Amino acid sequence: MARDTDWDGVRLHVVTGKGGTGKTTVAAALALALAHARRKVLLIETEGRQGIAQLFDRPPLPYEERKIAIAPGEAHDGRDPGGDVYALAIDPEGALLDYLQMFYGMRSAGVALNRLGMVDFATTIAPGLSDVLVTGKATEATRRKQPGTRTGFTYDAVVLDAPPTGRIGRFLNVSAEVSGLAKVGPVRTHADTVANVIKSPQTAVHFVCTLEEMPVQETLDGIAEIRAVPGMQVGGIMINMARPVMLSREELKVQPDLAAMAAALSAAGLYDAESLAGSLADELSEHARLVELADRERSELEAAGPPIYELPLMVEGIDLAALHKLAAELRDQGAA
Ligand SMILES: Nc1ncnc2c1ncn2[C@@H]1O[C@H](COP(=O)(O)OP(=O)(O)OP(=O)(O)O)[C@@H](O)[C@H]1O
Ligand SMILES: [Mg+2]
Repeated sequence: MARDTDWDGVRLHVVTGKGGTGKTTVAAALALALAHARRKVLLIETEGRQGIAQLFDRPPLPYEERKIAIAPGEAHDGRDPGGDVYALAIDPEGALLDYLQMFYGMRSAGVALNRLGMVDFATTIAPGLSDVLVTGKATEATRRKQPGTRTGFTYDAVVLDAPPTGRIGRFLNVSAEVSGLAKVGPVRTHADTVANVIKSPQTAVHFVCTLEEMPVQETLDGIAEIRAVPGMQVGGIMINMARPVMLSREELKVQPDLAAMAAALSAAGLYDAESLAGSLADELSEHARLVELADRERSELEAAGPPIYELPLMVEGIDLAALHKLAAELRDQGAA
């Protein structure tokens, strides 16, 4: 039923990128895209801003896995029944309580600690610990078994709306982060389990990027950083908010003939044809400049090597329908 896609062996999709380039949007679209053929996908938000709930038009998510959307599948051939997207908003406090429950069966003690402000205290003094708790929750969901399902796992894929590129290396390199914190003991063991998932072919780190200098540079730096960690896998580059190119590259090279344009505009009955022609020529050269810039940035990304997917700028903004369109693009381009 399912065709081959670029990331078939991947169960944990980490989505990073420069701030504001569309990480949350692309992570949600990827989750929808992966949820075809009855698959069950978990979309996790890490920064506590309830962006996913907003995106899916839902009230703020509790610290709990909830079904948030039904992916429609590919209805045209009727063979793909679609699947389910679940969502979870992780915060370090919730993850710490979860951790205490999972390893020590002490949720109530955890709640007491929380009231005393101890949980806040622990996650504030040790940001490395809070990263391990968040990645720990994501990898736990990735590994979670459920008898009777097609694959034996609760989720077929987990998509993590991760911190921005500037923080991603430290965020994922949990063993290094906790090594100053714990050399032995449960925290260490937990960090090692997390690292075993992250540094395996089961996990891929995707980069969301717009075709501008800064985001492209951050993407290239991020890719180098992930590649430098043995076992970590760079996924794809999702070029987001790509602008439509309205003329061919050849047409864009032609110097506009102002006199001919003015004559055509005045023949069309427009007033002030000359200044109109001047403004049009300015717009044309601005468009040509932007296209050239985007082409240059795109070729830098191509030189880096990972597969590239391109998502259009949705001029009406992002609503559920737009999200489904982006998901369909990702499917068509083989990302899911
Ligand atoms: N393809 C697109 N077309 C049009 N608008 C988009 C597209 N992708 C994202 N946006 C818009 O851009 C803005 C930023 O997107 P988003 O919140 O997903 O970025 P982010 O990288 O998660 O940001 P942050 O770093 O703040 O978490 C939002 O308003 C979103 O609706
Ligand atoms: Mg975001």
